[in-house]
Amino acid sequence: MHSRALIELHQLKKVFHTNQGALHAVDGVSFSILEGETLGLVGESGCGKTTTGRLLVRLLKATSGEVRFRGTDIQSLTRRSGKEFTGKAQIVFQDPFSSLDPRMSVGEIIAEPLTVHRLYRKRSDLMQQAASLMDYAGISPRHLNSYPHELDGGRRQRVGIARALALKPEFLVLDEPVSALDVSIQAQILNLFDDLQQEFNLTYLFIAHDLSVVKHVSQRIAVMYMGQIVELGTADEVIHDPQHPYSEALISAIPRIAKDRQRRRIILEGDVPSPVNPPKICRFYSRCPRRKDICRTAVDLLETLPDRYVRCILRQQGDTP
Ligand SMILES: Nc1ncnc2c1ncn2[C@@H]1O[C@H](COP(=O)(O)OP(=O)(O)OP(=O)(O)O)[C@@H](O)[C@H]1O
Ligand SMILES: [Mg+2]
Repeated sequence: MHSRALIELHQLKKVFHTNQGALHAVDGVSFSILEGETLGLVGESGCGKTTTGRLLVRLLKATSGEVRFRGTDIQSLTRRSGKEFTGKAQIVFQDPFSSLDPRMSVGEIIAEPLTVHRLYRKRSDLMQQAASLMDYAGISPRHLNSYPHELDGGRRQRVGIARALALKPEFLVLDEPVSALDVSIQAQILNLFDDLQQEFNLTYLFIAHDLSVVKHVSQRIAVMYMGQIVELGTADEVIHDPQHPYSEALISAIPRIAKDRQRRRIILEGDVPSPVNPPKICRFYSRCPRRKDICRTAVDLLETLPDRYVRCILRQQGDTP
């Protein structure tokens, strides 16, 4: 079994300074990603998933808190070791249409990280390496000289994946990597991630707003709400025995599971608070179907547990519905 943590987040925070004020996009997130696992990260639009992913690969600098990669805080890396880390942790974006430079050929796009890291001197060697990366990503090297607009969505995403593999990463953030693709292609790309994980012993953070994709690919699932993790457990626990009222609502929206469990779909009402000046009490309070008075007084009493974590004072008190 995998058990060693590859990545550990500790009280990670990211504040964006906006015209409306300080926006707390990621607000005290702590969890680990184990070597070789896929950790699913779910939550509705704007809850902070992409920001978390970008912090993990150093595309963003944290406001406070730590990200440890094999025990080393990635924010304290020197220029040189920072560059080395970049190769080990890469990101695959949701939209293969906007994430690839339209003026570069497929070969150039894939080879760019190799060029930046000065791994090959001769262009022919670079292109040969790009072609072999295309092989891994399941796209024919005959597209080496094509441009992104000449490819369909699935192939374009495979180019993004080949590029992410260029520097032999250990960790990939997959940020909604199939959301923009046709349903018929989604399964192929998900299979590719699975094959690559086996072959290269990759560790994934798989981001999605849709639990039905995440439940098939993740060993564990973290549920995020307004910049915080509200529940974390094995995929089985979170899907079949959600403990946080927000996870319950998300899961009640997956048709087959809802039917299996004879759960009714929970429609959330109430206002979503702003991430600028988020409430000091439970952030889900305004929409929570189970809220009680105590939820208004209790503030962040919960510690992150290694295996199962639920940020809900009612559950902590053993209150059952
Ligand atoms: N560069 C930025 N400057 C200001 N605010 C930002 C910036 N990036 C993200 N935000 C804000 O931070 C919050 C979290 O955004 P983020 O993109 O991480 O959410 P998300 O969970 O990935 O959403 P989605 O499902 O729509 O991709 C949002 O309120 C967003 O508007
Ligand atoms: Mg996002």
